[in-house]
Amino acid sequence: MRKTVLITGAARRVGAGITRFLANEGWEVVIHYNHSRDEALQLSGELQEAYPDREFPVLQCDLSNMDAVLSVFNRIPDNIQQLDALVNNASTFNSGRLLETSADFLRKEMSVNFEAPFFLIQAFVNTFGKGSIVNMLDTKIVKNEGIYAAYLLAKKNLAELTRMAALDFAPDVRVNGIAPGPVLPPPRKGNEYLADVIAKTPLKQQVAVQDISASVSFLLNNPSVTGQIIFCDSGSHLI
Ligand SMILES: NC(=O)c1ccc[n+]([C@@H]2O[C@H](COP(=O)([O-])OP(=O)(O)OC[C@H]3O[C@@H](n4cnc5c(N)ncnc54)[C@H](OP(=O)(O)O)[C@@H]3O)[C@@H](O)[C@H]2O)c1
Repeated sequence: MRKTVLITGAARRVGAGITRFLANEGWEVVIHYNHSRDEALQLSGELQEAYPDREFPVLQCDLSNMDAVLSVFNRIPDNIQQLDALVNNASTFNSGRLLETSADFLRKEMSVNFEAPFFLIQAFVNTFGKGSIVNMLDTKIVKNEGIYAAYLLAKKNLAELTRMAALDFAPDVRVNGIAPGPVLPPPRKGNEYLADVIAKTPLKQQVAVQDISASVSFLLNNPSVTGQIIFCDSGSHLI
């Protein structure tokens, strides 16, 4: 039986890893991207060649544009009738303390990290009625690291939404989250930044994209789990 997932921000980095992992498990993947068109097309071509009996279409959408977000599911190619799952992975990660946070900056961080997943979840439930959703969070949600104030507030909201939606949309739609620790250095930061963060984790270990992907797969495939947040973070949330 066909099972199809839409993954946001799927062209590169963690999103591309989750896409390859789920494709390898038999999923069809709608590869969402914003700017990374070449990478999205390349990934789609790679998967199409490896699994010629399945579809791996690409779909562009700027998730900071709410009109575009609301119409995403109308733009899925016709040969995909049903989505069985949604992975809200796309994100922006910009620093700024509370006192430096302007209205514009707050809106920007909130739009991609919280509002877009909010309305994609709503549209998923309205359009497909049943299935499974995974929201990518961050281990930082258990703390109040002031340097990423707007980003963190958005991810904390998304964590609450995960639990609220899990309850509201049961029994038809399951909603879960993953809170990663250090997987890849953020854009514009090098490996030294990540090495510092890794050294502070209890397990002293970088989180493998493979481990994040396996957690996504577990949540998508386990029919008894909803409202759960897996901290795949080398133990960071404990300290
Ligand atoms: N990397 C880590 O160590 C880490 C740690 C904790 C949590 N996480 C979470 O795990 C997830 C994946 O992490 P990542 O580091 O791979 O993410 P990332 O590279 O920062 O972002 C993933 C994708 O989000 C898309 N995106 C950004 N702004 C967008 C917009 N306005 N509209 C549509 N798409 C937009 C980009 O797509 P395009 O390239 O196509 O523009 C980007 O490739 C994120 O939710 C992140 O918060 C990651």
